[in-house]
Amino acid sequence: CPTVNESRRILVDACKRPSLYVPQINSLKMACARSNASSENKDLVTTFAPNLNPNTMATNRTFTMIKPDATGAGHTGKIIDRIISNGFTIKAMKWTQLSLADAQAFYAVHSERPFYGELTEYMSSGPIVAAILEKDNAVADFRELIGATNPAEAKPGTIRADFAESIAANAVHGSDSDDNAAMEGSFYFSQRELA
Ligand code: RTP
Ligand code: MG
Repeated sequence: CPTVNESRRILVDACKRPSLYVPQINSLKMACARSNASSENKDLVTTFAPNLNPNTMATNRTFTMIKPDATGAGHTGKIIDRIISNGFTIKAMKWTQLSLADAQAFYAVHSERPFYGELTEYMSSGPIVAAILEKDNAVADFRELIGATNPAEAKPGTIRADFAESIAANAVHGSDSDDNAAMEGSFYFSQRELA
């Protein structure tokens, strides 16, 4: 079975080439089923693939989560207002909570990083708001709006500068590429949930 990052690349590639989508997804699933693939890798295929399709990829969409520190502190409405007033349109949104296994699958791409355990425990510790957002240049513009990962380094006026507590509890997530935006959005939303 391919590694987690190879699986992500195969899934994304399949979305960009509709004629290859079904055969590539099926062969990835079969390779993972046959092998003794890590559970993260199996989760990657089974959790992301069902909602991904060739229409999911777009350069004008990003994906965000309002994280447990911000929902718990009552900042949800203010953050959504900030997002809308900065020109983003909400395409899909839900209030939900990740199980630890959900968080581990969502953040499988970070499984080798030293903060993976802390991150996944934290992200499953309370409610989050997941949303797909639309705007020209969505990924880069949203990263600009939220500010640096560490709120101590975030520019004044950014969401993290105003609402984040720490590098771990940093108020919001923003996808870092068009491909990851599509993958991450597909974790929470099917096509028929987009409006
Ligand atoms: P995000 O994915 O949440 O939008 O954040 P990011 O791109 O700015 O940062 P990334 O490197 O993707 O890290 C994901 C999240 O992991 C937590 N983190 N903790 N303790 C630490 O040193 C550390 N470093 C990162 C943060 O919550 C970060 O948002
Ligand atoms: Mg990131």
